[in-house]
Amino acid sequence: MAGLEFKDIQGILLDGYDHLPASRYFFLKIEEPALAKAWMGKTAKAVATAAQFRQKPAPASALNLALTYRGTRVLGLSEDYGLYFSDEFQQGMADPQKARVLGDTEDSGPGTWALGGPNNEEVHALLMVYAGNKADLEKLALEQETVFASSGLKVVFQQEGLKRDDNKEHFGFRDGISQPVVEGTGQPLNGEVAEIKAGDFILGYENQFSKIPLSPLLPASKDPQNILPVASPQDSRKDLGRNGTYLVFRVLAQDVLGFWNYFKGEADKRGNPTGKASADYLASKSVGRWPSGAPLELSPQQDEGERQKNYQPRNDFQYNSTDDQGLRCPVGSHIRRANPRDSLHNIGVQNEDERQKSLTMVNRHRILRRGRPYGDYIDHPLQVKEAPGERGLLFICLNANISRQFEFIQQTWLNNPKFDGLSDGKDPVVGANDGTASSQMVIPQGHYRQVLSGMARFVKVRGGAYFFLPGIRAIQYFSQL
Ligand code: HEM
Repeated sequence: MAGLEFKDIQGILLDGYDHLPASRYFFLKIEEPALAKAWMGKTAKAVATAAQFRQKPAPASALNLALTYRGTRVLGLSEDYGLYFSDEFQQGMADPQKARVLGDTEDSGPGTWALGGPNNEEVHALLMVYAGNKADLEKLALEQETVFASSGLKVVFQQEGLKRDDNKEHFGFRDGISQPVVEGTGQPLNGEVAEIKAGDFILGYENQFSKIPLSPLLPASKDPQNILPVASPQDSRKDLGRNGTYLVFRVLAQDVLGFWNYFKGEADKRGNPTGKASADYLASKSVGRWPSGAPLELSPQQDEGERQKNYQPRNDFQYNSTDDQGLRCPVGSHIRRANPRDSLHNIGVQNEDERQKSLTMVNRHRILRRGRPYGDYIDHPLQVKEAPGERGLLFICLNANISRQFEFIQQTWLNNPKFDGLSDGKDPVVGANDGTASSQMVIPQGHYRQVLSGMARFVKVRGGAYFFLPGIRAIQYFSQL
């Protein structure tokens, strides 16, 4: 494989910036393209690269920049460039057909959104700002804000994200544990059975199908300053996509009280609100990990991590040979739907060939997650009656093919009531459930099973958009268009 061009790849693509817990996301509309281009030229020099984040110590702050399809057009790319940006990127997340694919209906529909919907101002660019603490973030964000107005940019939405020291998301579960390992980065496998080809996450490299992903290419004459690399030794066109990728951004509001009161109610109904029917137990079965991040697959009885200081959650598990029936980690749980590992389409059949088939197929649908929680935490959700304000997850994922990766997971796995032999109910944590009897979650338990039904939608979509996260040279190219 050709080596990854770390200097041309934005840092956020290959690093989660765990040491930079404070972040702010500016959604920008380009009002004066000429000024905005000059700003992009300066920003290209300031954008954090993957090369910088491979050095020790890693930088103490970072800026990253992405564009919507409309943004690329406003900056001057036009159809006669003969570009190929993917269809999903061109359509955008708020497209009515897309909304059906993603389950963004009713009070999660684009018409209700605060960002990126038909009733909101157009978004052209996303500037992501990261720092080591809140005070540094304020400073950095202010520096940016002061130049927006004189750079022809209007902030149409902004949101702050804050990662807690314990990495817990708002429902109280540790997040950011399982990630695919990108070939060529030299990162340890962290329980993964294999690296995933770089081309599933970065345009310009071979992907899981041993193909180079489709990338926006331009005639060489459209790059007179010779900023961009050529497409290949056989193709003299210029590659605007190389070292870039697609970024999915979704503002997902979490109903923390609704979530915990639901599980508490189910626990009370069972008349034994401790042990195997406690709210904690039922909610953990729905996530697939305990609050500490300990996987149910390896710690089926209790939360191993709660009792250990500096506990590092494990990720070295599969499902088929140890748990093909979902007795430990239910088939319908969030993590088993989002990444079925070696157990897809082989429930009830423990077999090496089937395991390998599943891994090959599932590993074509992986995403790199870079999300951050927003809003105030509620430490004891069952002890409060009201929780003013909104809180949730700024869901960010990176993938080279939005339809095969993010959309596939969302539609075919998370929101599919018939997922892998199940009959009813969507993902219990993030699915588009509707509170009816068929919105259920089955927890198999030996000779019997617990059925949680009447699940509501605990996570609502408040907005989002599809972005292109360009390589550094591509940002320079946009700046001189
Ligand atoms: C508010 C919404 C969400 C919450 C609270 C949430 C929470 C979690 C938690 C607690 C984990 C386990 C920790 C880990 O393995 O890193 C997890 C894993 C995961 N989630 Fe989510 N999630 C949300 C939305 C989504 C969405 C929308 C997707 C994809 C479309 C997704 C995909 C994944 C994947 C791929 C994993 C890793 C599974 C594995 O490899 O075992 N999540 N999530």
